[in-house]
Amino acid sequence: MARLRLVPPDSRYRESFLAFIDELGAEAIRYREFDVFEDDDFDVYVADLRGSEDAAYQYLWLVEDEAVIGHAYVDYDRESFAKYRDGQVDYIIRPSKRRQGYGTRLLALLKEHGRARGMSRLLISCLRDNVGSRRIILANGGVPYGAVSDIFDRTRTRLQYTIDLEDTIPIPDRKELFDVWAMKYDTSVDDATFTFTGYEKVLDEAIAQAELWDGARALDVGTGTGNLAARLLAGGCGEVWGADFSEEMLTRARQKAPEAHFVRANLLEAWPDELPEQFDRIVSAYVFHEFDLETKLRLIGELNARLKPRGRLVIADIAFTTAEDREAAHRRWAGLWNEDEYYWAADEAIAALANAGIGARYVQVSICGGVFVIHRYTPSRQQPPSNEPPFEVA
Ligand SMILES: C[S@@+](CC[C@H](N)C(=O)[O-])C[C@H]1O[C@@H](n2cnc3c(N)ncnc32)[C@H](O)[C@@H]1O
Repeated sequence: MARLRLVPPDSRYRESFLAFIDELGAEAIRYREFDVFEDDDFDVYVADLRGSEDAAYQYLWLVEDEAVIGHAYVDYDRESFAKYRDGQVDYIIRPSKRRQGYGTRLLALLKEHGRARGMSRLLISCLRDNVGSRRIILANGGVPYGAVSDIFDRTRTRLQYTIDLEDTIPIPDRKELFDVWAMKYDTSVDDATFTFTGYEKVLDEAIAQAELWDGARALDVGTGTGNLAARLLAGGCGEVWGADFSEEMLTRARQKAPEAHFVRANLLEAWPDELPEQFDRIVSAYVFHEFDLETKLRLIGELNARLKPRGRLVIADIAFTTAEDREAAHRRWAGLWNEDEYYWAADEAIAALANAGIGARYVQVSICGGVFVIHRYTPSRQQPPSNEPPFEVA
């Protein structure tokens, strides 16, 4: 979605716009402005849609490269919900592009547009049962305002939200981001692209390092859509559990691995009652980079306490063999580096773990992905020095 932008209607998008209306089918009927026919003079239609420079409202098209992905309407005049209960902005994404994050991007672009027009906030609403729209609004900093019945169908409720444009761009909380991401997680985790380079191989290596056996009880922390949990089942574990704080992720995990048990839990909070107390294996993939090194160490200590004797903790994540490698990668992939995340440097982490009496091994699997293996240890005693080398390349 690199070249996504919001533009005024333009005749150069004729073919794509007509295909967009076609794709909408019966949905287009709701929008008067979509009354356009193959034999209409498209230039006249577009000029009409563009309106005058000082109009109190505007139509905008969401365009990716040369394709029309969505259509939006923004009314600059509405200062409160009192006049129009459905708010100031309305938009629609073409059906084949839904559930891929375009709605969230479109609303973010509408916010930029509103700011540029000197608006201080956006009023927006959606039907209560439209979970996708609600998520998009929340991910863009929507604050609940009220609820009214829908003007077209009074049996249905519309939820109203305000989005403050004067604030700095709101940063949605991490759980909400994951809830939104859940919809397209499996298609967006691109094996070939930094930071997920080698994703499948990294997960496979985590399973290999876990050395599973029939009947083992395993837990996948930050299970997401259940990709690692599904591998634990395929690897023969007798009892598989998954924990995650995103209900949307868990919904997908339950579909993918119905034999596993999934529990909603925040890893940084108390151990949930629904989870067993002890496991043979605890695994995790692409989660720990959410936490700084100190928090990582604390969490490792807590998970260690949940391992049975001879238990093992296996952590796969975005990681580099040395801090120097991480720095080089930071320079190389500066544009893709998320400054809010904490990618591992194995040398630094292994030294910090050793300091805390914890022995660990690390395997570099891809240019930015690797696996840590930590055997259960007794916190009061130093871990006996391991004969195994601390680093390997898979
Ligand atoms: C990048 S996804 C990885 C998902 C999965 N393990 C995989 O490898 O595909 C990170 C997951 O960690 C979860 N997560 C992040 N922070 C968490 C926390 N504090 N407690 C529980 N889950 C968390 C997110 O909801 C998300 O599902």
